[in-house]
Amino acid sequence: KKPKMAVVGSLNMDLVLSLERLPVIGETLLGKEIHYISGGKGANQAVGSARLGAEVIMIGAVGDDMFGTQIISRMEQFGVNTSAIAMKQDTPTGTATILHTEEDNCIVIIPGANELCDSDMVEAHADAIRSADILLVQLEIPLPAVERAMRIAASAGVTIVLNPAPALPLAEELIGLADIFTPNETEFAHYSGTSCESEEELIRQMGNWQERYGKTLIVTRGESGVSCINKDGLIHVPARKVKPVDTTGAGDCFNAAFGFAIASGRELEASLNFAVKAASLSVTKFGAQDGMPSLDEVEGA
Ligand code: RIB
Ligand code: NA
Repeated sequence: KKPKMAVVGSLNMDLVLSLERLPVIGETLLGKEIHYISGGKGANQAVGSARLGAEVIMIGAVGDDMFGTQIISRMEQFGVNTSAIAMKQDTPTGTATILHTEEDNCIVIIPGANELCDSDMVEAHADAIRSADILLVQLEIPLPAVERAMRIAASAGVTIVLNPAPALPLAEELIGLADIFTPNETEFAHYSGTSCESEEELIRQMGNWQERYGKTLIVTRGESGVSCINKDGLIHVPARKVKPVDTTGAGDCFNAAFGFAIASGRELEASLNFAVKAASLSVTKFGAQDGMPSLDEVEGA
């Protein structure tokens, strides 16, 4: 049986500007290329889940413009159910302008229609959330919408993966609604209120967090892999050595694949391994959504 997943979150058009180096303030710089690529953490996680074979519904909002139309049709090609994506009038589709060099990224996000994804919109699709095995949420839409989705899921016993990105001030109560909390290292430093500079300090802070919330915490650590803690202890899964082409969306791929693995009945450690493999594969391809691997690709890796 196909795992059922619901994603409540953002959809963006990523304007990826490839540059030799980043500009300095006041400079006019000649860049190399521009690519228009569907993105947004919510949409990326929905596509990542669908690529692996989940039945996925995306709840979110785009503008009534060319980018919105393109994003939706691309998601349909990937097999995502787009019937709960609203097209808002007189609002631009969200954009992420990504200044991309081989070494670094700088991103400017204009939320646009994502800001109009409110709790009423989420409530209108409560049934889709209740009937899912897993709910995936991130923080690129207004917090009341995120919270409503989590409450609907929690009351129906749906497992909630909260990817707290980008890092924002969050109420403890909201964090407590999540079954699995998946910040990257920088985000975890924000949520734990420390810099977590050494490995030791990170592990200590993860332990504190686990004691406080009693849930599963997964910190994604780029080339260092992922560290996970829950009541049974600590698990570390190293990343695969790959030649990175584009790391945009690697975290989204991890969340999608982890959610998929849990929803299809894999144990925690097997799910972590599966998701790390998927994320490692995703960075070898350009584009957030186009880099999402299929089930065969992950199992063959
Ligand atoms: O996580 C990657 C995503 O973050 C990009 O696709 C971009 O849209 C930003 O929202
Ligand atoms: Na990629």
